Amino acid sequence: MDDIRIKRAPRIEAEITVPGDKSISHRAVLIASLANGPCVLRGFPQSEDCMKTVNAMRALGIKIEQPEPVVLIVHGNRRKLTAPKAEIDCGNSGTTMRLLAGMLAGQPFDSQLVGDGSLSRRPMARIMDPLRLMGAKIEAKGEHDTAPICITGTPLEGIRYVMPVASAQLKGALLFAALFAKGKTTVEEPVPTRNHTELMLNYFLVHTQRENGTVSLFGDNVPESRDFSIPGDLSSAAFWMVAAAAQPGGHLLVRGVGLNETRTAILGVLVRMGAQVREAIEEVDQFEPRGTLEITGAHLKATVIQGKEIPPLIDELPILAVAGALANGTTIIRHAQELRVKETDRIAAIAHNLRSMGAQVVELDDGLEIHGRAPLHGARLSSFGDHRIAMAFAVAGMFAEGETVIQDVRCVATSYPDFSKMLNSLANPKSYRETTPVITSLAPSRPED
Ligand code: S3P
Repeated sequence: MDDIRIKRAPRIEAEITVPGDKSISHRAVLIASLANGPCVLRGFPQSEDCMKTVNAMRALGIKIEQPEPVVLIVHGNRRKLTAPKAEIDCGNSGTTMRLLAGMLAGQPFDSQLVGDGSLSRRPMARIMDPLRLMGAKIEAKGEHDTAPICITGTPLEGIRYVMPVASAQLKGALLFAALFAKGKTTVEEPVPTRNHTELMLNYFLVHTQRENGTVSLFGDNVPESRDFSIPGDLSSAAFWMVAAAAQPGGHLLVRGVGLNETRTAILGVLVRMGAQVREAIEEVDQFEPRGTLEITGAHLKATVIQGKEIPPLIDELPILAVAGALANGTTIIRHAQELRVKETDRIAAIAHNLRSMGAQVVELDDGLEIHGRAPLHGARLSSFGDHRIAMAFAVAGMFAEGETVIQDVRCVATSYPDFSKMLNSLANPKSYRETTPVITSLAPSRPED
């Protein structure tokens, strides 16, 4: 098992890019596969999760070439998929399993989706219940509605459905099912979740309608083949953003990063905590806004993160919990019970690791109360097999006295295979330009919420 060892890091003064956005990449591959011709996807991340979606579509008869590590040519086959010869392995990727289940429910063939140990413990009833309302024949073979998922392909009908959980994966599963269903499907979201499925469908000229918290889609559309460049993943950038934000005088520029407003809630939180955050959207012509972020660090102060703010920063909560431990005062995270059913129970994992480093933490059913500014000390920590726990605590190690060891960090490849390389570069700042140009044309910081 691989470990990473981290020592207290020098002040960050860096300009970086991050790999392509994981959520956007899954959707780009899925929709391009259904298009009426070849689509070139640039900036594709080499993360294991995204490659699971690529290989799943290959197993469904789609030719996908990879002429360069970050470039895919997806040969869309006008919505025609072929029966897979074996079960489809979704690995650790909940997005692959849930979105694919939606797409496969309405096909004229049967399929089975399997996952690794972690994915096989994650809840699937949330997608199976509404898919059954559309007419799907879908069953979970694992205990308590967990994978393997067996699908008997059958014709589907559009429905109107109010989502009981704020989940973009659930919304995505229903929209992919809707593409192959008769009539109109409307999904109502009580709290907005990331809108990448809708934007990507619109970009490929399959029009979705958004109205009063609902998204609607008519089945039977063929996506128009187009090329797409994937912006950098803000959720991967978040680790370095917090590292810079928590160092007074720390300074970080992140170039080419996705700035979709259903994902940028972390920026408001960092501003509330006292960091200076500037964002400049430089491109919107492919529907997914992208640009530059500039973070200037400070002595952070505690904040409360709860309610509607949770879904748009759900993946950033592990690193924001670390920010809370470094901040003055008590940071409270509430209404985040979804963290208990991610790649691991992230509430328990964060509480355990922060306590091991000397922080005082109260574990709540739906969140955490973190008493900040206790001096952190190095420790041997588990990744719990969860990429975001591994990366969040590697950053915590940058602020700890002594050495921090994160055990079993292979899971980092799920979303950010080059994470350790970037960590090394930041710990060894000579590899960066001596003077980072400060952009003066950036938009002003977001106001406090
Ligand atoms: C994702 C949605 C989120 C997020 C996950 C990716 C997506 O999950 O945690 O990493 O791409 O739709 P939920 O929608 O289940 O909250």
